[in-house]
Amino acid sequence: VQDLLPIKDTTDFPMGVAIDDRETTGPASELLLRHFDQITAENHMKPEAWYDEDRSFRPHPQAVALMDYAVANDLDVYGHVLVWHSQTPDWFFQAADGTPLTTSATDQEILRERLRTHVDDVAGWLADTYGEFGAGNPVTAFDVVNEVVNDGATSDPDDGLRRSEWYRILGEDFIDLAFQYADEAFNTTHAATGADRPVKLFINDYNTEQSGKQDRYRALVERLLERGVPVDGVGHQFHVSLSMPVSALTTALDRFADLPVTQAVTELDVTIGSPETDANLVEQGYWFRDAFAMFRDHADDLFSVTVWGLTDGRSWRADSGAPLLFDDRMQAKPAYHGVVDGD
Ligand code: XIL
Repeated sequence: VQDLLPIKDTTDFPMGVAIDDRETTGPASELLLRHFDQITAENHMKPEAWYDEDRSFRPHPQAVALMDYAVANDLDVYGHVLVWHSQTPDWFFQAADGTPLTTSATDQEILRERLRTHVDDVAGWLADTYGEFGAGNPVTAFDVVNEVVNDGATSDPDDGLRRSEWYRILGEDFIDLAFQYADEAFNTTHAATGADRPVKLFINDYNTEQSGKQDRYRALVERLLERGVPVDGVGHQFHVSLSMPVSALTTALDRFADLPVTQAVTELDVTIGSPETDANLVEQGYWFRDAFAMFRDHADDLFSVTVWGLTDGRSWRADSGAPLLFDDRMQAKPAYHGVVDGD
């Protein structure tokens, strides 16, 4: 691993990376520990990851590995994710006989209870195993709901919310409930006495740098805050490509600046298309330079910045072209130099 200026030493906010256990050993781990001080499980804390085939709750071995790794190396953990329409067991939304839950009061109560139990089992296991929140537990934040805003197709409904199974059965209330249950679990029941909101609770979404989605996101966050829902932070995934100007990201962060919330960049990656050329890689370097200069300007409002993977080949968007800071030989790309350059 190259002897380079650590990214984390150049930012006033925690610098995060999404990983699985492949990044917890060998040169990948060495690279990670040099540059990052926060991790997110790319897949293994998602709803489906917590359940056995027989539907019983148990931490995924990879969630255990990542938590142990965080403790051993003094890393923060930004949790992802409690409630999502994707990577969630089908049985969450089914009655005992396998038929879909309806909007009857009885079925709604079944889903509310599943939600509460899920959130409490996750928080309870984390606290029992790694210590109370706010008292040594590495978890400092959690995405409570993910991708609940609709994409703005002409057929999409006026309230701006995705028609997920959560929404079909409980309506918008599932969002309020998810935050309430998470707040009880992470910030009260399993929290150190006297600690002030030890785990920041986030709403998270993609395409928030695009105007329509941004309007719907902002309107939802305003409604939640007006209702007193305990939302601490607004997450921006920022899965973008080189054609997305950094100014669009600036606008997205500024759009929420007047609200009583912190913000996070939760899943940053920037594809360059194919073929991968030196010119594109250099352009990507300038893009990251400008983006991180802007993030540093917003440091007071930023909880953390996370890149969605350590090396290009490990990216879920690898086919769209080299979206991350390091190549598969663990070498720094121009993108890395751009990130540290603005400091
Ligand atoms: C992606 C992972 O990177 C992939 O490995 C997996 O196959 C699918 O999910 N928005 C999110 C993340 O909130 O959880 C997604 O992660 C990427 C889009």
